[in-house]
Amino acid sequence: MMATVNENFLKLQAGYLFPEIGKRRRAFQQSHPEAKIISMGIGDVTQPLAPAVIEAMHGAVEEMRKAETFHGYDDGGIGYEFLREAIRDNEFQPRGVALDIDEIFVSDGAKSDTANIQELFGLDNIVAVADPVYPVYVDSNVMAGRTGAMAGQGMYQKIVYMPATSENGFVPEPLKEKADLIYLCFPNNPTGAVATKDQLKKWVDYARQNGAVLLFDAAYEAYINDPAIPHSIYEIPGAKEVAIECRSFSKTAGFTGVRCAFTVIPKELLVKSGSGQRIALNPLWNRRQCTKFNGVSYVTQAGAAATYTAEGKKQIRSTIELYMNNAKAIRETLASLGYQTHGGVNAPYIWLKTPNNLSSWEFFDLVLTKANIITTPGVGFGPSGDGYVRLTAFGQPENVKEALKRISRLF
Ligand SMILES: Cc1ncc(COP(=O)(O)O)c(C=O)c1O
Repeated sequence: MMATVNENFLKLQAGYLFPEIGKRRRAFQQSHPEAKIISMGIGDVTQPLAPAVIEAMHGAVEEMRKAETFHGYDDGGIGYEFLREAIRDNEFQPRGVALDIDEIFVSDGAKSDTANIQELFGLDNIVAVADPVYPVYVDSNVMAGRTGAMAGQGMYQKIVYMPATSENGFVPEPLKEKADLIYLCFPNNPTGAVATKDQLKKWVDYARQNGAVLLFDAAYEAYINDPAIPHSIYEIPGAKEVAIECRSFSKTAGFTGVRCAFTVIPKELLVKSGSGQRIALNPLWNRRQCTKFNGVSYVTQAGAAATYTAEGKKQIRSTIELYMNNAKAIRETLASLGYQTHGGVNAPYIWLKTPNNLSSWEFFDLVLTKANIITTPGVGFGPSGDGYVRLTAFGQPENVKEALKRISRLF
């Protein structure tokens, strides 16, 4: 006798994109040891933490030195009140969104929250995602058993894929068919697209009419420049009854290695039980987090709260501006060279159409071998991503400049 495996894990496609990029990079570097490879593909940030954050974290460490100010478990593991109040007062109240702090759950990342949130829903729910898509939404549902096998072309059976293409401006319209859990990500990774109020309203209306739930990933909302673009799904009337929102300090404040994020589950959000009862998700997520998660460290939460001080706000804004200056340089240089790009205006990602109808991997290889630059092949995010590569604005400005010089000489 032997223990048996969760068969759903066997349905997962091998983590293919980033290992394959690494393999091709190493092979090229081995045969060209002199080449100075620049990555425009990384999704990680490069700039240091804001001084206000560092100071607050140092202060919090000092508090841990004395019994009177020591902090142990974060009661309940859903975030200290000081941080949840700061989130409510700075992220939502100014946008006309009234939340109770017990609708805000602090966590260690939007990756874990967007992956774990599906646990609240029955296995018979139909999941819809954009194509291309941040892979976590799909893979977490595969692991849970909400999909069939891989049906070829990088798509799983029983998942509804909504093509995000240049024809729809990379913002899929609500579906004709029924879906129960709809993942939306704006500003989008990988396309850099944003959704207008009207576009989001259509999704909120769809969810209200069809009893669906929107899982809204706003990890990049801090990169929105256009004042007309909503930062939160809750800026759309009626969204509180149908939407969960995930946010993160990772790209907003350079917390990729520190780890802090939060998820909002309004108390009005109800789903149905098998016996037809209406069930609120907010207490269920509280229960789930209290059972499976023991909170983010006090030091980290003190650092996250410092992003909402006057100094902290100024400092994180200036880092975001540095990245967005990179984005502008990338967009403008590529446009002047005749490339077609999308995104990079309200998002740190630039979605570049490959020239001459090259596939994503053909263009990846060309740019690696001729310009020694790493890009991320769009097809790695879904079949509709073929013919694109993703560039990120998170590099060091001098590397971005050098990379653009090399791209200018490519053809
Ligand atoms: C769309 C999207 N959501 C969530 C995350 C994960 O963020 P975190 O660092 O908070 O786990 C990322 C990170 O790349 C992302 O691109």
